[in-house]
Amino acid sequence: MVSKKMQDALNGQMNAELYSAYLYLAMAAYYEDSDLPGFANWMRVQAQEEMTHAMKFYDYLVQRGARVVLDTIEKPPFEWESPLNVSEHVLAHEKKVTGLINDLVNFALEEKDHATNNFLQYFVAEQVEEEESVGSVLQKVRLAVDSSSGLLMVDSELAQRVFNPPVAEK
Ligand code: FEO
Repeated sequence: MVSKKMQDALNGQMNAELYSAYLYLAMAAYYEDSDLPGFANWMRVQAQEEMTHAMKFYDYLVQRGARVVLDTIEKPPFEWESPLNVSEHVLAHEKKVTGLINDLVNFALEEKDHATNNFLQYFVAEQVEEEESVGSVLQKVRLAVDSSSGLLMVDSELAQRVFNPPVAEK
């Protein structure tokens, strides 16, 4: 069993992961509209990953006998200034999520909820990977920003990304 406060915090993080999926789908639509299908593919894959993150929180709440509460998902932005601006937003968003995960870990430690702390360690590691992966795309976009052929090369590279569902634990 988790405390009521922890249940609320975990539901809050599930909502943040659903928002991430929603945000990345909005970015995918922006890229589709900008004729950058590879970037759109990258964002679609990211959105699918975010759904698996949300479901991990969902499943953990169920496993602990807590109540899953689905709240309103905030409306994501619709337009960005440029493809570079989108990539910068992705990195800023991932850093924000890292902060949320760190706050949750701090809260789990405060509550001496070791099971939840253990559960959250997956996300601590995941955020390191996400920031690294997004940071490397951003770096490539920065280098390509003044050349449309450079941007198209990054686009073809990102077209190769595929969603790898996480291996089921238990
Ligand atoms: Fe679920 Fe990209 O953080």
